Amino acid sequence: DWTSDVFIDATIASLKETIGKDRVVMGLSGGVDSSVAATLIHRAIGDQLTCVFVDNGLLRKNEYEEVLESYKGMGLNVIGVDSKKKFYDALAGISDPEGKRKAIGRTFIEVFDEEAHKIKDVKWLGQGTIYPDVIESVSVNGPSATIKSHHNVGGLPDFMKLKVVEPLNTLFKDGVREVGKALGISDAIIGRHPFPGPGLGIRILGDVTEEKVQTLQEVDYIFIQGLKDAGLYDDVWQAGSMLLPVQSVGVMGDERTYERVVALRAVSSVDGMTADWVHLPYDFLGKVSNDIINKVKGVNRVVYDISSKPPATIEWE
Ligand code: XMP
Repeated sequence: DWTSDVFIDATIASLKETIGKDRVVMGLSGGVDSSVAATLIHRAIGDQLTCVFVDNGLLRKNEYEEVLESYKGMGLNVIGVDSKKKFYDALAGISDPEGKRKAIGRTFIEVFDEEAHKIKDVKWLGQGTIYPDVIESVSVNGPSATIKSHHNVGGLPDFMKLKVVEPLNTLFKDGVREVGKALGISDAIIGRHPFPGPGLGIRILGDVTEEKVQTLQEVDYIFIQGLKDAGLYDDVWQAGSMLLPVQSVGVMGDERTYERVVALRAVSSVDGMTADWVHLPYDFLGKVSNDIINKVKGVNRVVYDISSKPPATIEWE
């Protein structure tokens, strides 16, 4: 009979035994999995754990500051690394989705390796891998995905020579959430929608620039905050917005405008493998669309994605 308390006690005991007096480094993403995994490891070995949270410049508006703050409130020892510029440089001129993923993954590894190097005598790499990541060859969860997909690249970064500790690799997402709740992790982290490791980088169709990121952050903020204010956030499995590489004609006052189009997407799903679009109320969509067009400079049209997966995917790239 599985209960989260039994799981927590057993996992902490086994982490203590496995890790002993060694040091562990772990990348955090702000998501549920890495937060719960880090908290378990922290309960087991305390300050022997150092966490690294990288600002890749592709996070949601205010996310870096807010997540860093909440981790510190949880007592985790977290190093925040602002690497926005490195990521933007690595992405410059790249439009191909896989090319962008590779550039982001490579840069993440560079940054993480540099930080891991600064920790003396580190022996273990903590990861938030959950069971579905283990059975799928390609993980959908941030740092672990990045690391796995680069396993065969020659000249491994130093941190990849570390032994791996994955306390959640027998759990499904529901189990992770239950464990997180029992550990006292805030609802804001537990209830977070999934967010792809490459972040807004794969929600900006075409090449990524800092200016496009800022535009999309504003759009996304209005949409997500709108869902929260309307009490709809928890009814949706994942939501986000895409900046399309398309301009369309509009009118503002007596002026003709020629500006960007954004697409909003909200899906229901169990595990992300299949998904349906959510029938958000028309009034809600109308209000959010108005807010976006009135408040975000450079956007004059909003569309709503009504495709299910399959045959569409959740992300557009
Ligand atoms: P798709 O678009 O394949 O997405 O229907 C399914 C789930 O996976 C997330 N996703 C990613 N997560 N790196 C990630 O860490 C990626 O490259 C990536 N691509 C998609 C997506 O947000 C959804 O939750």
